[in-house]
Amino acid sequence: MQDDDNTPSNPRALAGARTIGDIIASRLTRRGFVSGMAAASGLALAACGRDGAADGLGGNAAGNAAGDNGGAAMEAPAFDFKEIARGLDETHHLPADYDADILLRWGDALFPDSPAFDPQAQSADAQRRQFGYNNDFIGFWPLAPRDGEEARGILCVNHEYVSTLLMQPGLAADYPESMTRERCETEMAAHGGTVVEIAQRNGKWAPVLDSTYNRRITAGDTAMEITGPAAGHPRLRTGADPTGRAVTGTVNNCAGGVTPWGSYLMAEENFNAYFLGALPEDHPEAENYGRYGLPGGGYQWGRHVDRFNVAAEPNEPNRFGWVVEVDILNPASTPKKRTALGRFKHEGAETVLAPDGRVVIYMGDDQRFDYVYKFVSARAYDEGDREANLSLLDEGTLYVARFEDDGTLEWMPLVFGKGPLTPENGFASQGEVLIETRRAADLLGATPMDRPEDVEADPKGGRVWVMLTNNSQRTADQTDAANPRAENLFGHIIEITEPDGDFAATRSRWEILIKCGDPDKPEFGAMWNPLTSENGWFGAPDNCAVDPFGRLWVATDGNRSTGAADGLWAIETDGARRGAGRAFFRAPIGAEVCGPRFAADGATLFLSVQHPGDGRGATFEAPTTRWPDFDDAAPPRPAVVAVRRKDGGPIGGPLTG
Ligand code: FEO
Ligand code: CA
Ligand code: CA
Repeated sequence: MQDDDNTPSNPRALAGARTIGDIIASRLTRRGFVSGMAAASGLALAACGRDGAADGLGGNAAGNAAGDNGGAAMEAPAFDFKEIARGLDETHHLPADYDADILLRWGDALFPDSPAFDPQAQSADAQRRQFGYNNDFIGFWPLAPRDGEEARGILCVNHEYVSTLLMQPGLAADYPESMTRERCETEMAAHGGTVVEIAQRNGKWAPVLDSTYNRRITAGDTAMEITGPAAGHPRLRTGADPTGRAVTGTVNNCAGGVTPWGSYLMAEENFNAYFLGALPEDHPEAENYGRYGLPGGGYQWGRHVDRFNVAAEPNEPNRFGWVVEVDILNPASTPKKRTALGRFKHEGAETVLAPDGRVVIYMGDDQRFDYVYKFVSARAYDEGDREANLSLLDEGTLYVARFEDDGTLEWMPLVFGKGPLTPENGFASQGEVLIETRRAADLLGATPMDRPEDVEADPKGGRVWVMLTNNSQRTADQTDAANPRAENLFGHIIEITEPDGDFAATRSRWEILIKCGDPDKPEFGAMWNPLTSENGWFGAPDNCAVDPFGRLWVATDGNRSTGAADGLWAIETDGARRGAGRAFFRAPIGAEVCGPRFAADGATLFLSVQHPGDGRGATFEAPTTRWPDFDDAAPPRPAVVAVRRKDGGPIGGPLTG
């Protein structure tokens, strides 16, 4: 479903028309980096190199960080591990001197009273006490270890979606009629998130089932509050909620973030897929819903639950597509949908602090020809005032990016009354600008991108990396410097440099770090550092992480299209190897890798293996693998793995010998 749900809805792209801003922007051309010839000859990386970054190990991200956010500039060591081979089979692979322990599988217990996993007798009741399906984002909040523990923390995991025919038995023959109310409720309970304490003993991580931090958040049950400028708006009110401030559940939580004040951000991505039905004729939301691909019809919940049927409850979709904040230190807290961060197909929401303490969140809207955003809070983070921090995300400015062809970038504010965001254009308030974030961004002339996925900053370096996963539908006359390839099958990675390390800046610079795909096939126009091996290239960058050394790691969802497994690659961003990839982890067949998350010491890497065993025609009865248990009587199980080096050293090197 995830791969098919990317039909473009941006009218600017569909019309093939470029705005005045687009045309002005494209008059200027950049220096040689768009040249495939230069890339093939190995010159491109030199042309792309940042000033002062050509001297190997010393030319690291921190060299660029005039604003150091109170931390010392870090020397990022080069990666040092034995690369794994490309390939595709039923299990996972990583370098021989590393272990990948299965930490939590779909159906695993989270509480002392959790029922045992029984794939043949699934129920919503059981699932509410068990680890959910299709783990995606992983957050980690360290806690002080207790006696006998080497490390401890709270793990936050999104359960993005369910692979319907793979998850429950006996559905394929008469789908969708086979989706009874009970089956749908089980799916709802398998969505959402898990907050669970984990501890490490003797080098092994395990969940702590009796921890008071543990909770399950679901699509079907968890009461949530809508906050920020759109809260209470009449377009958010429903029969069940006349206040427009109380909503049940969250869906399609893809990536997310962990804030410095101990909360977990769950980004609602392809929320349109959960709605069925048709809007009443001439309904005022018709244009708005068209822009978001509503109703998407990917799930059958609307057969049994009115709020997932737009004919019965036309405003319900306006209550999804937000970023949800969960206070993980208070398991009784009500999760908040923070409308100030905009409404779109949110991929991730990782926080970084500007030098003045304001909170900055970079975000991608994952659809073909949609946009890159950032939110800057109005107030600064205050380390001593947690209560104040817990409302920081309700006030601030949402910006959308325009990538100019000259390598500059303008962050344009989505503020009611500014520019075209006025009543004449159908916006009566800031709440409406946010409910229709995409249309507001269209009017501002934002740059339509090749499916923006994760966007993450190096907090010490002032650099930000944008994963653009692919866009097979971009035509030659729709290319620009930031999206330079027509029929972009493999995606690319953009590097943004914020001036003086100021993540709150509104004028930035950008360049392309990598154009993904096989560098040995000139027809694809890939661009890698020529030091990249035959295993080091990939397609379809999706989630990413910056490790404690400031180094970039990229996970893929769609490298499968190259005939090899999805996985995790280390990417050099400085020195002579800048733009080189190196393969670290390979997923089993059918799976994508997501949620890369390093524990604070860099010695554990948590990875999500999502939808193992999937594939064309794959079902519960006939999956493409039964990873990780390889039990002929059980289906494959999405799982979080904990990766450690056998000698306990930092993931990715350096080797401490
Ligand atoms: Fe859920 Fe854009 O990946
Ligand atoms: Ca993703
Ligand atoms: Ca994905």
